[in-house]
Amino acid sequence: MVSDLRFDGQTVVVTGAGGGLGRAYALFFGARGANVVVNDLGGSFKGEGASSKAADVVVEEIRKAGGKATANYDSVEFGEKIIETAVQTYGRIDVLINNAGILRDVSFKNMKDADWDLIMKVHVNGAYKCARAAWPHFRKQKYGRVINTASAAGLFGSFGQTNYSAAKLAQVGFTETLAKEGIKYNIIANVIAPIAASRMTETVMPPDVLENLRPDWVVPLVAVLVHPSNKTETGSIFEVGGGHIAKLRWERAKGALLKADDSFTPTSILQKWSDVNDFSKPEYPSGPANFMELLEGSIKLPRNAPSEPLDFKGKVVLVTGA
Ligand code: NAI
Repeated sequence: MVSDLRFDGQTVVVTGAGGGLGRAYALFFGARGANVVVNDLGGSFKGEGASSKAADVVVEEIRKAGGKATANYDSVEFGEKIIETAVQTYGRIDVLINNAGILRDVSFKNMKDADWDLIMKVHVNGAYKCARAAWPHFRKQKYGRVINTASAAGLFGSFGQTNYSAAKLAQVGFTETLAKEGIKYNIIANVIAPIAASRMTETVMPPDVLENLRPDWVVPLVAVLVHPSNKTETGSIFEVGGGHIAKLRWERAKGALLKADDSFTPTSILQKWSDVNDFSKPEYPSGPANFMELLEGSIKLPRNAPSEPLDFKGKVVLVTGA
């Protein structure tokens, strides 16, 4: 049972833990025996300003309830400093929850480089920097748990959020690859697309809806995924909020395999358009090699074709007619 899951002696880093979802994670892990690094830059939801107050308040809450917590005020762009706080204070890092985030919503027509760049810096570089700094510790101790935070906006697109959508879908590819590289070292990585009441959503959703989307209802899934008992659920995408949890996965249509010769024209694709779009017998690919298998019989693949990745390093590739 989730209520029994404990994290005694483990060190959990939660980025953006001064409010919203991050605060809920931090309070939970603090109450379940973990040493919690409460990171928060303390700026506005648009990424302006900074203050130590956001993190300090949550640290105080955890301590008052009898838990162990330390504040860190660095931006996730300097993830190495956050991980350093964990290692210097508690001697280790076991769980990284990449949660910090901001919004710079604007229609694509009016998007400025600054809006794009800041979102990439905080979400993409931030998650990278924290994970990169934690990784050697995870590998060395043959244990690590990572949660990255995507969004429905990234999975499906959302008006006025091209920057945020791009950064959020990046979390999916990032996580899927971390999972593949990490499994050998008992490093488990999953990505969630949460929905919860926070300062991010309070301006776009009515109060009665927000009342049913408490951040606390995202926490139990995260706890299950980062608990030592989870040794196999990795590289997965979950939507979670308001008590509903569902896994998402990639789906490939039947598709059309056309002859790779002169008959392969735009018209030949249009003739097979219904097959290209036929999801009646879907496949669920899990890696680049799956696509290559579809080509068997059509192009010559070497026996024992390398599963992944295909390595063209040092090879000269001649593309004719390009
Ligand atoms: P929030 O605004 O309440 O919390 C985000 C926290 O991150 C804030 O406390 C903020 O100060 C901190 N932060 C921002 N930039 C930072 C930086 N550079 N370094 C360190 N801390 C920084 O928002 P919420 O809703 O709790 O969001 C948490 C995560 O969940 C974000 O990644 C967000 O994009 C994601 N998300 C939230 C959804 C929701 O429905 N609330 C929906 C989909 C995704």
